[in-house]
This record gives sequence, C-alpha cells and structure tokens, in this order.
Amino acid sequence: ADGLSELLLSRIRDVPDHPEPGVMFKDITPLLADPVAFAALTDALAARCAELGATKVVGLEARGFILGAPAAVRAGVGFVPVRKAGKLPGATLGQAYDLEYGSAEIEIHAEDLRPEDRVLVVDDVLATGGTAEASVHLLRRSGAAVAGVSVLMELGFLAGRTRVEAALEGAPLDALVTV
Ligand code: PRP
Ligand code: MG
Repeated sequence: ADGLSELLLSRIRDVPDHPEPGVMFKDITPLLADPVAFAALTDALAARCAELGATKVVGLEARGFILGAPAAVRAGVGFVPVRKAGKLPGATLGQAYDLEYGSAEIEIHAEDLRPEDRVLVVDDVLATGGTAEASVHLLRRSGAAVAGVSVLMELGFLAGRTRVEAALEGAPLDALVTV
C-alpha cells in the first residue's frame, strides 16, 4: 500500500464482536479525530472529484456525510445527501434495496441535481455493495451522470465490488484502503 493508505489504515480501529459476535467492526472515529489523517483523506477525495470532472458530491447517510461534505467544499462543488427514507422534507426520489434480512430505502432531493451534473458518490465502507449499488441506480433515475464511487475502505472478502461495478457501467469504483 502507498503512504496515504498506510496512514489511513493506521487510524482505523478494529472492534471485535461489534455489533454482534463474529463481526469485526471497522471504526473510523480515530481517523476523524486525527487532523492530519482526516485532511489527507479529504484532499484525496477532492482530488478524485477534480480528476473525474465531478460537479457534485453525493454522500450516503450517515458516515458518507462526514467524509463527503468536506471533500465537496475542498473541491469547490456542491454536496447532496442521500438519506434514509422519511428524513427529507421535499419531493423525493426513492430507491428500495434488499438487506440480508428485510429491506431498506434511500431518498434524494432530485431537484438539487441538474441533468448536466456529474456526481461522485462518497461513503466510508463498501461491504456487500448494496448501499452503493442502490445509490447509483437512484442517481441514474434522477437524470444525473455518475462519475464514480469513492470509498475510504473496501472489505475485499465480500463481493461488493462486482455488483457496484455492474451498476456503474464503466465508471470507476475506487477504495483508498482495501482490507
Ligand atoms: C454502513 C456503511 C456503508 C454501508 C456498507 O452504513 O457506512 O454505508 O453500511 O454496507 P453495504 O456495502 O453492505 O451496503 P450503515 O447503514 O450501517 O450506517 P451509517 O448510517 O452509520 O452509515
Ligand atoms: Mg453508511
């Protein structure tokens, strides 16, 4: 891994058996608390925004907000939240997706995106890929183009990349750290 990956990885804490036995939780709060690491992450995401010609950052509730909002400001583009259903007050576009048990739904204020917008989707973790995949489908339906998906961390032992890449139709999926 490169220097940035090493730095970021060193600030991610493994918490065994959270939220249930057998699961190793990847806690990003030490990274957020370290101004050097958080700034390096923000700069990397903002640079990706510029490389891809993105005109908006879309952050995925909740941890994608923490990473995506400063990256948008740094890149000089707007920020649009994808929220869990029922939170946004205006006219929403929604996308349901399956979870291991049950289902979930995300929503966006589509009026905050223009057809000419190119969106970089930001989240902290790619696990099964369900959240990112649903976001890509939602954004396509909003009329905006998806420039790519950037995550801090990819859990490479899950098949998330395959399904998100299928949804992306050639746009890049990048992870700053793969574990
Ligand atoms: C977590 C994580 C990603 C998603 C990854 O969010 O922040 O958004 O799961 O999982 P997936 O690839 O299997 O979809 P979660 O909804 O647990 O909570 P959060 O609101 O704290 O971000
Ligand atoms: Mg999340």
